[in-house]
Amino acid sequence: MTTLLVKNIGILQTPVGSYSHRGREQSENIRLKDSAIFIKDGIIMEITDGGRLPFSESEADNVIDAGKRLVTPGLVDGHTHMVFGGYRQNEIPLKLKGAGYLDILRAGGGIMDTVRRTRTASFDELYVKTKGFLDEMMSLGVTTCEAKSGYGLELETEIKMLRVLEKLNKDHDMDIVPTFMPAHAVEDIWKGREEEYIHICCQEMMPEIKRLGLADYVDVFTEDSVFNKEQSREYLECARKLGFGLKIHADEIEAIGGSVLAGEMKAVSAEHLIVINDEGMKSMAEGGTTAMCLPATSFYLGAAFAPARRMIDEFKIPVAMATDFNPGSCPSLNLQFVINLGYLKYRMTPEEILTAVTVNPACAIGKGHLAGTLEKGKQADLVIWEAPDMETLCYRFGSNLAKTVIKKGKIIT
Ligand code: NIG
Ligand code: FE
Repeated sequence: MTTLLVKNIGILQTPVGSYSHRGREQSENIRLKDSAIFIKDGIIMEITDGGRLPFSESEADNVIDAGKRLVTPGLVDGHTHMVFGGYRQNEIPLKLKGAGYLDILRAGGGIMDTVRRTRTASFDELYVKTKGFLDEMMSLGVTTCEAKSGYGLELETEIKMLRVLEKLNKDHDMDIVPTFMPAHAVEDIWKGREEEYIHICCQEMMPEIKRLGLADYVDVFTEDSVFNKEQSREYLECARKLGFGLKIHADEIEAIGGSVLAGEMKAVSAEHLIVINDEGMKSMAEGGTTAMCLPATSFYLGAAFAPARRMIDEFKIPVAMATDFNPGSCPSLNLQFVINLGYLKYRMTPEEILTAVTVNPACAIGKGHLAGTLEKGKQADLVIWEAPDMETLCYRFGSNLAKTVIKKGKIIT
């Protein structure tokens, strides 16, 4: 048994509950002053305020003095593509000359470039590279994340990617939720025969991934020049029959019905939603689908920002925010920058933002009962910030403000 006392917390701010927060609930955080947390064997035993200590200091094996700083739950990055070969810095000059994301993909670059490099990368190369990313994410305050396959587009490489995540889930302190995404791009040999590829995903790939227990969710890129709404529906229906949770990359560049489908299929989340329309938002609200908004991708693509304010106020859709870390549209794994963009570009409040990077993504990746809030009985995943309050965390940008990161009661940095 090991115990840890974190004392002298200036403000402890956290959402409450193990469910997706929508509408007004999105801004319901509790804010305790002069707080302390007592942790036993990685679990929160007690939280106090008003300068009271849950137990006497001498009862704790370790004591951390938070120095009146802000403490929040560890951040949850609910959408990443962190396992990949190579990088794509070569695309920037093309982008600056006016080539769009889909132009580069249609010309065989973009995701297909990363597919080629991921196929030739060894397991060990991918393992070491991904471990480096996880270390960096944790140092930035992330304690739970999701990660997708999708740079294989054939079973062998997809399995290699998911095995990297499986091993890192055991070896690394980060909790990683794996998502299978073979419908991430259309390779040349499948162009015009997308239905056939979808059948292979459904009949060969998904059952094998299920048998191997390598993924919890299945995701699809529903987009112009990629997979259309009906192909995506068939694919997701197969995934659901096999017992996977459903996710959809929807309305990133063209609104071809992805968010409508997400609601119809009661997908757990729909991702991007930059160009979502009212029909899509209505469908998602009815389906109970979380909006996984990715503002750093909007920033990097020079695109518009998803209408997060309307999702919260008018449609009562639970909003989460994630990095979308990947080598093309968002080569950053800094969720703190996403927080800044949520504040300035989505015009969300600090309370809404905290919900969007903790409990809402936790619920969208099946971890809401363990992570995403600071409450008795939950995992002791928390961050002591070099900031007195959430407002400062939303306002400062470009620095790493995570001072101490604690995962399941273990001090990481
Ligand atoms: O979510 N849009 C599709 N997939 C990723 C990008 C992947 C890549 O460009 O390598 C995304 O932005
Ligand atoms: Fe993505």
